[in-house]
Amino acid sequence: MVDEQGMRSRVDELIAEMTVAEKAGQLTQYFYFRLPAGSEVDPEPGLDVAGQPAMVESVLGEGAAGSLLFVTDPAEINRLQRLAIDGHRLGIPVLFGFDVIHGLRTILPVPIALAASWDPAMIQRGQAVAAREARAVGIHWTFAPMVDIARDPRWGRMIEGAGEDPFLGAVVAAAQVRGFQGPEIGAPEGVVACPKHFAGYGAALGGRDYDEADVSESALWNVHLPPFAAALEAGAGSVMTAYMDLNGIPATGDRWLQSDVLRGALGHAGFVVSDANAVRDLVTHGFARDLSDAGARALGAGVDMEMAIADAAYAHLPDAVDRGMVSEETLDVSVRRVLEAKLRLGVFETPYVDEERAREVLGDPAHREVARIAAERSAVLLRNDGGLLPLDAARANSIAVIGPLADSRRDTLGPWCFDFDLGETVTVLEGIVSRSGGARVDCAPGIRPAQRVFPSMFDMFGNNAPRDPENFDDDAELDRAVAIAAGADVAVVVVGEWQNMIGESASRSSLELPGRQLELLQAVVATGTPVVLLVMNGRPLDLRWAADHVGAILDIWYPGTQGGTAVANLLFGDVSPAGRLPFTWPRTVGQVPMVYSHTVSHQPQKQAQRYWDEQSTPLFCFGHGLSYSRFEYGEPSVDRATISPGEAVTVSAEVTNVGARDADEVAQLYIHQRHGSASRPVRELKGFARIALAAGESRAVSFTLGPAELRHWNAAARDWVIDASTFDVWVGGDSTATHSTTFEVTET
Ligand code: NOJ
Repeated sequence: MVDEQGMRSRVDELIAEMTVAEKAGQLTQYFYFRLPAGSEVDPEPGLDVAGQPAMVESVLGEGAAGSLLFVTDPAEINRLQRLAIDGHRLGIPVLFGFDVIHGLRTILPVPIALAASWDPAMIQRGQAVAAREARAVGIHWTFAPMVDIARDPRWGRMIEGAGEDPFLGAVVAAAQVRGFQGPEIGAPEGVVACPKHFAGYGAALGGRDYDEADVSESALWNVHLPPFAAALEAGAGSVMTAYMDLNGIPATGDRWLQSDVLRGALGHAGFVVSDANAVRDLVTHGFARDLSDAGARALGAGVDMEMAIADAAYAHLPDAVDRGMVSEETLDVSVRRVLEAKLRLGVFETPYVDEERAREVLGDPAHREVARIAAERSAVLLRNDGGLLPLDAARANSIAVIGPLADSRRDTLGPWCFDFDLGETVTVLEGIVSRSGGARVDCAPGIRPAQRVFPSMFDMFGNNAPRDPENFDDDAELDRAVAIAAGADVAVVVVGEWQNMIGESASRSSLELPGRQLELLQAVVATGTPVVLLVMNGRPLDLRWAADHVGAILDIWYPGTQGGTAVANLLFGDVSPAGRLPFTWPRTVGQVPMVYSHTVSHQPQKQAQRYWDEQSTPLFCFGHGLSYSRFEYGEPSVDRATISPGEAVTVSAEVTNVGARDADEVAQLYIHQRHGSASRPVRELKGFARIALAAGESRAVSFTLGPAELRHWNAAARDWVIDASTFDVWVGGDSTATHSTTFEVTET
């Protein structure tokens, strides 16, 4: 526990000593990375990225940076920290930040997969491992979780969030914050969390990353802000702004958003960092006149720290102060927040890390166990016709493993990781080989990896784009894969997107399987060998053909370091899949954006025929996921038929595992408000519980619905309201649950 009074006086003393330039330095964060030789980058014309390490080192020598990001080597961190402390007149250390999104060395499944587990305890455990590794190497601060609601799968960053739903998103956000930070900021194995990107970034026009978002007031409060509110309530110490214009104003320069909403309405007490170069971007947007204006306005809006590659706008803050564009007191407010974070984290007392201990922590085998369990608990069984899964090890004497992703270590890990150890990464093929006992396992890629039309910015770090194999005879390889499949008892086909095809700056205009994957799948299915399809993805893909022709489809996402082991355990039934979709899975890209929680409108009986050329229903609904067992639900009941606004009702239902296997089930509760001061969604998730039930076991699940669940932001009242109304409530295994009851909220 920090001594709050002592901390405040220490900060007062430091601020009293600091020059305006030193204050501006505390508010400036620089990237620090060395690119592999030959890398081509163009983050912004005119920025000297290659010359950046030298620039940063000289800035550190002048005490003109408060934080660095992208350094993960503990020896480098110690070296740079020494430069910073020695270079600062007052010896102020820097904070090290990094995007620890789904693990540092031990890579967990990607965030959308973690969300698909509907298992907050596991998510917390996973991110605690990520934090432990990060803190051990000297990282104090992670730029995670990304809590942006994503309803348009063309947007590549859907993979970094928890999907479409604000309730699930809020639970997952809070679990991640607790995992990263531990019991309090400054916990020895925790890092400061940074929910991002504030706010509305997921609503990018056309799903095009960085493009503007037009978000109605109702959608902002009811959909996009709840995960931020939950992350802050869980204690998140920082927040990152967003790149785009929100309703016509650049989010990073929007004082209403970053101060009135974030600090006022949501109560954020920590600090705010801009997204990378987003303060400079205020000029790009045609909002700020020049860098001094950009710095002054971002700071004035409440953005405490600028994240910059080079030529930071906040380096112009002394000029802005001189010109009366911003006051020194405004700088002091932000400097205070940054220094307090450093003191809470103990960076002044313990600025250096123990490199030997870092090695031990990174090698901790317990971390890999957590990653395996997370991958097992994240997978979603989309289809299982005729009980093809689980495979019977005694009868699957020969297994064909097909597809270029099946044995790709890099792709198994997914995007947004850089410090992985490919040597300890288990591919699907390797997992199947080690789990299948004496079975014969043959593998063929069948086709060469597909490539992006435009390269990914992450390709500059090397080892990112799939390698195009040399001397690859396309026809012969396809034939070979088909022949292997034809001769096997079962074919496991792995399809999806290569990991550089999803993530930041990885939006798509289509959801089709890239390259010749559908053709490969069709050729394998044509052999008549039973096919299990594994999907490696971070967004829904067009699986219409597969859903009609393939017996079993298991969504494994990018399952991480232990992905192959987890997948094999799922395939052979050591564990039953129990993940659930955190988004509505459309049939085709033409349907997006598509959500389960739409409102009810004219001719609802024709909801499935809103298009004349394709059903307007999803391929797989929100919350969908099958099991190797079967579950039945009893009729839900309420403890009170009537409540007044402000009161709560408890809804209970009995869940029974009526199958022959022990398995987990995710019981989900949805509500609908029948009438009131706004049209409310046809269904909204307001509770869920992942429970383990032995074969034959029954258990009652109960959920509380109180003001937080029953209120909505009303665009006419411009406030939260709880309407007197009848509420329908369903409890079941997905968003089409049929067992329901009702209760009334009366007038006050
Ligand atoms: C830009 C991304 O939008 C943000 O999410 C990330 O944290 C920063 N770059 C730093 O890598």
